[in-house]
Amino acid sequence: MPKKKKFAKESLVIKTELVLPNDTNTLDNLMGGRLMHWMDVVSAIAAQKHSNRIVVTASVDNVSFRQPISLGNVVTLRAKVTRAFNSSMEVHIKVSAEDVPSGKGFESNEAFFTFVAVDQSGRPIDVPELIPETNEEQLLYEGALRRRQMRLVLAKRMAPEEALELKSIFKTES
Ligand SMILES: CC(C)(COP(=O)(O)OP(=O)(O)OC[C@H]1O[C@@H](n2cnc3c(N)ncnc32)[C@H](O)[C@@H]1OP(=O)(O)O)[C@@H](O)C(=O)NCCC(=O)NCCS
Repeated sequence: MPKKKKFAKESLVIKTELVLPNDTNTLDNLMGGRLMHWMDVVSAIAAQKHSNRIVVTASVDNVSFRQPISLGNVVTLRAKVTRAFNSSMEVHIKVSAEDVPSGKGFESNEAFFTFVAVDQSGRPIDVPELIPETNEEQLLYEGALRRRQMRLVLAKRMAPEEALELKSIFKTES
């Protein structure tokens, strides 16, 4: 049976949060761990929307925090699936923050999460193919194979010589 196909936009999830005292460190900035929790949940919902399945977090690519987010800022998280493989899906999430009284906003960080759709027993299960439409979706879709190979090599789940997209980085010839 041919695989079902879904558009990237069908997986879009947007969440806004107000940074409250319980979310901050002693400098009154948002704790990195709290932000990563929000990112994990929002990305997981995007993967669920694409697959209509239970999903588990398989990996998170490196996350760096460019600028602190302050107490009272409004945080917006936008997540969308970039590409689906067999049972796994890569999700791109972007985080921005805004000081609403001044109207000043900035891009805080972005990351790629990988989720695996599982059945009721926790076994990986196939997901629909993803169709990119916009230029940005197309670029993210094309880069997803290279990022997948990179994370699988780093997790020792793929031999460097099998990572054809990474040939220029991992030279296996002597
Ligand atoms: C993720 C998990 C389901 C993979 O199960 P597995 O038996 O190793 O399954 P497979 O080897 O068949 O891999 C299944 C998919 O996971 C992907 N995968 C496995 N490890 C991965 C990793 N570290 N990074 C990215 N993708 C990974 C594989 O590439 C494969 O993708 P594909 O089906 O699209 O080709 C399993 O390792 C798991 O349940 N991990 C715990 C998840 C969890 O609890 N997360 C919350 C953290 S507390």
